[in-house]
Amino acid sequence: MNKKTVRDIDVKGKKVLVRVDFNVPLSSKDPKDDIKVTDDTRIMAALPTLNYLLEHGAALILCSHLGRPSSAADTQFSMAPVADRLSELLGRPVQTADDVVGPNVTAAAAKLEPGDVLVLENTRFHPGEKKNDAELSKQLADLADLYVDDAFGSAHRAHASTEGIAQAIRAKGGAAVAGFLMEKELQALGTAVSNPPHPYVAIMGGAKISDKIKLIENLLDTADKILIGGGMANTFIKAQGHETGTSLVEEDALPEAKRLLEMAEDRLVLPVDFVVADKFEADAAAETVAADSIPADKMALDIGPKSLETFKQALKGAKMVVWNGPMGVFEFPRFAKATNQLADLLAEQVEDGTEVIIGGGDSAAAVTKAGLAEKMSHISTGGGASLELLEGKTLPGIAALDEK
Ligand code: 3PG
Repeated sequence: MNKKTVRDIDVKGKKVLVRVDFNVPLSSKDPKDDIKVTDDTRIMAALPTLNYLLEHGAALILCSHLGRPSSAADTQFSMAPVADRLSELLGRPVQTADDVVGPNVTAAAAKLEPGDVLVLENTRFHPGEKKNDAELSKQLADLADLYVDDAFGSAHRAHASTEGIAQAIRAKGGAAVAGFLMEKELQALGTAVSNPPHPYVAIMGGAKISDKIKLIENLLDTADKILIGGGMANTFIKAQGHETGTSLVEEDALPEAKRLLEMAEDRLVLPVDFVVADKFEADAAAETVAADSIPADKMALDIGPKSLETFKQALKGAKMVVWNGPMGVFEFPRFAKATNQLADLLAEQVEDGTEVIIGGGDSAAAVTKAGLAEKMSHISTGGGASLELLEGKTLPGIAALDEK
């Protein structure tokens, strides 16, 4: 990575503004409830950076977005529950600000001593955040001496606290550098994008092919094989001229699917069988059919055992694997088998020396649910960000940071 990191700056006695991605799931949408964080993976992932900065004598001002509030009136998206959980995990008090910027925040930041931690209110409570407003970036920069970006999950957003802030902190003579999580994500995913060891196999799943056309196209330049599962496989099956019954198919994406099939020749590996049902329900009766024989009144909700065996063969000997998107409707246990078995298979591959990288979002959730998170080489904390990086895009939050 050619970006400076926290190791390249002296933080002793400095106030450091850290952009984290604490966009975490919450227990309730009702502001009257006692809202709790239900999954603290993203908070845990930032701890190495936060502890390092604290141990090296910094005072921390943390900022993050949380959810997609339309304004500060959406108080159910307050950062208070996140600050509570952070305090438990850091084992020290964490102060909260009642705003993103403004006189109260400036006063609270001015009083910070080394070792103190202040969490600002949800950056999206400020109308300037998503507009990458230069004035908001300047006000944030004015709270601190240095800026550390550890929010890989938000690096694809050019917002005031992820992009504009880097310029604002440089304008006042400060540095804008990456945290350890950002560094780790870029090392793992960056290798997959630009210098993957071969054989390199990508596994793509999830509902929609339209979200992943660019990604598959980019992977065709680097991957030796691309295994396709999930709802998006149906569109490929239909593009091959087979019936898909009542399965989810993106009719608009059929020409693109045909084009990708032609480009890929035998490098796109499609399911050879599916688990189908007559309705999209957790307890729907399931049966396994060949991929070219989906009955007219049935929909594919998972890939079948023969497909998994085909995938297993394609994965044999792989040096690197990237997995993005579940193989079926994994929220329904009956249709989660292939996703879980694939997670098992990949955990075994890691033991055999394969570097296995799990893209964020649903595949990360599936691996965690299967209790296999610790077994993978890397699980990305970014859903959209990891997809865009794998698509070959430059992420604005990363581009903005200081070069080495
Ligand atoms: C994510 O969860 O992918 C990031 O936090 C970005 O959130 P957003 O899609 O609301 O910008």
